[in-house]
This record gives sequence, structure tokens and C-alpha cells, in this order.
Amino acid sequence: MEKKYKAAIIGVGAAKASGNKGGGHQIAYAHATAYQGNPRVELESGVDINAENLKAFQHKFNVPKGFGDYQRMLKETRPDLVSICTYVGLHHAMIAAGAAAGVKGIICEKPFVISPAALKEVQRAVQKTGVKIQVCHIRRYLPSFIRARDLYQSGAVGEPLMCIAGIAGWDLSEWGSHWLDMFRFFHGDRAVRWVFGQARVRGLRGYGHAMEDHAVAYFEFDGGGKGILDGGMAMNGPWTMTLVGTQGTIRIEREDTVVVDTAAGRKTEKFSIDYGQLWHQMVADMLAWIEGGSEPVTGFTSMAKSAELNLAAYISAVRGDRVDLPLKDADEQIDEWPVEVLARRKQSGQ
Ligand SMILES: NC(=O)c1ccc[n+]([C@@H]2O[C@H](COP(=O)([O-])OP(=O)(O)OC[C@H]3O[C@@H](n4cnc5c(N)ncnc54)[C@H](O)[C@@H]3O)[C@@H](O)[C@H]2O)c1
Repeated sequence: MEKKYKAAIIGVGAAKASGNKGGGHQIAYAHATAYQGNPRVELESGVDINAENLKAFQHKFNVPKGFGDYQRMLKETRPDLVSICTYVGLHHAMIAAGAAAGVKGIICEKPFVISPAALKEVQRAVQKTGVKIQVCHIRRYLPSFIRARDLYQSGAVGEPLMCIAGIAGWDLSEWGSHWLDMFRFFHGDRAVRWVFGQARVRGLRGYGHAMEDHAVAYFEFDGGGKGILDGGMAMNGPWTMTLVGTQGTIRIEREDTVVVDTAAGRKTEKFSIDYGQLWHQMVADMLAWIEGGSEPVTGFTSMAKSAELNLAAYISAVRGDRVDLPLKDADEQIDEWPVEVLARRKQSGQ
């Protein structure tokens, strides 16, 4: 008989979904569907501070146990698997509590952590308890991105020079963190050497934190290749990434089409997308990892580096200077979302 895993979800999502920039996307519903689609997992509990959200979630997924407090849930139910679907500011404390309570696998939403100090805290929890963590940069499982990475890495457009993308109307973290993670993916997860970031911050808030109106990150990988991400403005279409090589370009359009342009001409490939399937894959990978398999592409080792890149871009904007990676001891003391610093500056007229 195969082992069964008990799962819980913290932050079960708005009772009514919204497409707003700022929250209400009910991403927990994708996690619940994935757990319930895996015969080896029993989704036992939901946790939310909002009683209406909790009731709607329990009713929709027929989840037997509901809690208003995640510490109580951890103590009373001792789950094997926990999904964290709250906003970024809460992730590190929930991970640390889960790890201390003996949770084996945590699937955490992005953006991963609020500060370098929070990242350190998560690192300590991993070292101490061996808890396995995945972060939902689910595009690592999308066939179009895998194809683009393989082409870029294999020299289909010559030597990699620069990945460029703009995200119309979005920021460097809530949406941009996916794109920063993809740029690392296209470079075989090689280390990032340095980052320049700049941000225009006014009064915007969402997902429990200050958000920029417009920001830019520019960075270089070890061994060559750069990335430029314009959060706020589209480049070459709202969903397009362009990978530039010495002998051509690869464009990923709308996440399902890969277009390669070289002197030999244009080649276009179409891929199907099933977003729901991506969370199923995460759950399957987590079980395999817990049972002795290798760390998945969405595992902590790599995801910590994507979070570091994201935070470093904002820290660069705060300092008005280049930030060299890995982060140094002084950086690791920073214990708040760096965009909050920029928002306070703006408010006080600095
Ligand atoms: N991976 C992806 O593609 C993807 C897609 C959408 C959203 N997200 C991310 O998922 C996260 C959640 O976003 P959403 O729009 O689904 O959120 P949401 O607003 O639908 O749900 C968040 C839930 O967390 C609950 N909550 C807040 N504080 C809590 C606490 N202390 N304990 C328990 N519950 C608490 C809220 O009441 C709410 O029900 C965000 O970080 C977002 O960036 C990821």
C-alpha cells in the first residue's frame, strides 16, 4: 500500500475571484485541485483568517477541517504537506512554523519572501529540519519555456547575449518574479553577478505591500548573458520575451508560441498550455522528492536565488547603486520589503 499524505492549505483565497492587481486570484483553488487530483494525498484542512473565505473554500472542495489560525492547525493536525497561498509578507513565519511542526513538504506561492532576513530565516529552517520547499514558479514546467531554454542553451541563435521583456501594467515581484525566474532558467540557473534596479514608487499598494508603478531590473549572469526586465511597460507585446543571441533571436509569445529568427529564416512552434496541470506536477514532484528523488526545478536551492535576484533589484533602487550577488552580510540584515522604504521616502518628500 502506497503512503498517503495529509495536506493543508493556508490562505484559502477570496470567496469570489477577482482579476485585480492586488489579490483575490484564489490561487489556493489551484493547489486544492492538484492535491485532490493526486490519489496519494488527502486535503484535510484549510486555514484562513477570513471566515467567509474559509467557508466558501471548505464547501467547494469538501474539506473537513477549517481553522482561523495556522499554528493551531499545525499543532492539531500535524500535516505532511502544507501549501502557503497568503501574500509574501507572511511566508517566512509560516514556513518556519511548519518546519518546526514537522511538515515534510511546503509548496509556497511567489513572490517567495519579503526580505533578505526572511530568506535567511527560511534557509535556517531548511538546514535545521530538512523541510522540502517548492516555490510556484510554475512556468518552469511549461513546454514553450523549456523549448526556448533548450534552443538558447544549445546555441540555436549563437552565444546568448540578452533576455528582454516588459510586463504591461505589472511590477517586478507579483508578476515580474516569474519573469526573473525564467531569465535564470534560460541561463541554466547560473549565478547572477550583479543587478541594477530603479523604481518609480507612488502610493500603490497590493498583496499587503507597497508596489511600484514602474520599475526596471538589469543584471548579468556568471559566464555572460544579461537580462533586462521592464516592469510596467510592454516590450514587443505584453506577453513577449525575447532572447537575443549573436546570430538571431528567440521570441516566446503569449507563453505558447516560440519563434526563432536566424539568417536561415523563421521557424515557429506552437505548444499547448494547461495551467492547472502545472500544480499537479508540483505535487507529484514534491512527493518524489520527499521519497528520496532529486530536488525538482522549483525546489528551494534554485528558488532562493530567484528571490535573491528579485530583492536585489529593489535594494539597488533603494541604494542608488549596483548590488553584487550573492547578497552580503549587511544586505542580509534588511528585514522589510525594500519597496516600503521607497514608499516612505516618497511620502516624506525625500
Ligand atoms: N503562481 C502563480 O501563477 C500565482 C497566480 C496568482 C497569485 N499568485 C500568488 O498567490 C498569492 C495569493 O494571491 P491570491 O490573489 O490568490 O490571494 P487571495 O486574496 O485570493 O487569497 C489570500 C488569502 O489569504 C488569507 N490570509 C491573509 N492573512 C492570513 C493569515 N494570517 N492566515 C491565513 N490566511 C490568511 C486571506 O484572507 C485570503 O483568503 C500572492 O502572493 C500571489 O502573488 C501566484
